[in-house]
Amino acid sequence: MSLLESIKEKAAKLNRRIVLAEGEEERIIRAAESITRQKIAKVTLIGNPEVISKKCPDVNLKGVEIFNPLTEDLTYYADTLYELRKAKGMDKEQAAKLVQNPLYLGVMLVKTGKADGMVAGSINATGDVLRPALQIIKTAPGISTVSSCFIMIMPGNSKYGENGVLVFGDCAVNPNPTAEQLAAIAIASADSAKKIAGIDPKVAMLSFSTKGSAKHELVDKVVQATKIVAETAPFLNVDGELQADAALVESVAALKAPGSPVAGKANVLIFPDLQAGNIGYKLVQRLAGAEAIGPICQGFNKPVNDLSRGCSVDDVVNVVAMTALQTL
Ligand code: ACO
Repeated sequence: MSLLESIKEKAAKLNRRIVLAEGEEERIIRAAESITRQKIAKVTLIGNPEVISKKCPDVNLKGVEIFNPLTEDLTYYADTLYELRKAKGMDKEQAAKLVQNPLYLGVMLVKTGKADGMVAGSINATGDVLRPALQIIKTAPGISTVSSCFIMIMPGNSKYGENGVLVFGDCAVNPNPTAEQLAAIAIASADSAKKIAGIDPKVAMLSFSTKGSAKHELVDKVVQATKIVAETAPFLNVDGELQADAALVESVAALKAPGSPVAGKANVLIFPDLQAGNIGYKLVQRLAGAEAIGPICQGFNKPVNDLSRGCSVDDVVNVVAMTALQTL
C-alpha cells in the first residue's frame, strides 16, 4: 500500500469533520464528493448551495454538509470572535464583518467545535489562510510556533530517507526563525514524520557547515537550535549542524561527522530559514522528480492546512486526509 493510501485509510477510521472554506470552488466541490464517497472524512463546505450546484451540476453531494453564510445566523460566531480578539483591539462591528469571510468563518467553526479541522488555500494566499488560524486557533499547549513541513516521496527505489520518504521543514511559514523557533520546527516536523508519514524520525539540522567546519553567526543559530531540541526533546534522534550531503550520504557522513547518530541516514531535514526551505523542497520536487505532499501545517491547537493554489482535486483529498490524522 502506498503512503497516501495508508494515510487515507487511517483517516477513514477516525471519521473526523473537516471544513472546506472555499466551498464554491470547483476543485473543492469535486474533492468534497470524493472524500465523502471514499468515507475519508465528513465534509462541511462553506458556500451558497445554489452557486455550488450550478458550478458542478454533475456532482452528487449527498452526505456533504453545506454551511451557507448568507442564510445561517452568524451572531454566535461574531460574538465569540469578538470575545477572543477584543483585547487585541477588535470591535463588534469588525468581528461581524470578519465572520462573513469564509476563511475566518471556517476557523470559527473549528474553534467552536463544529468541525475538527479546516483546509483552504485553493484560491487564497498562504498568509491569508494562516493568519485567522494563528489569531484564533493559536498554538497547541507547549508549542510556541506554528510551522510547516512537506513529505517528500522520492521516485523509484531511492536510497535516501526512509525507503525514499523524507520530511522537510519549514518550507512555507516562518521567514526567519530564531534558534528557539527552529528548535520548535524540528520537534514539530519529527512529530509530523511519525504521525503522518509513519517514519521513525532521524532529524538533521541543516547548515552550510558540518560540526564546526565553518564559523558564522548563521551557523551558531543552527548549533543553538540543535542544543534546544536536545534539551527539550531528549528522546529525539537529532544532530547538527550538518550539511545536506553529510545528513544524507553515509560515505560523506563517515568523513565529516563520524559517530553521528543521524548523519548519513537522516529522514527529517530542518532548513535554517524559509529561503533555504522553500527553495530546497522545490528543487528536489522539480529536479529529482519527488512528490511533495504539503505544506502540512504543524503546531496549531486544532489542525488547519493550506493548499497550493495549483492544487488538483486529488491534492485536496490528500490534505483533508492528513488534516484528519493531525487531530490525534
Ligand atoms: N507561530 C505562532 N504564532 C504566530 C506565528 C507563528 N509562526 N506567526 C504569527 N503568529 C501570531 C502572532 O503572534 C499574532 O498573534 P496575535 O494577533 O494574537 O498577537 C498573529 O499570529 C498574527 O501575526 P502577524 O504578525 O500579524 O502575522 P503575519 O502577518 O506575520 O502573518 C504569516 C504570519 C502569515 C505566517 C507570515 O509569516 C507569512 O506570510 N509567512 C510566509 C508565508 C508564505 O508566503 N510562504 C511561502 C509560500 S507557501 C509555498 O510555497 C508552499
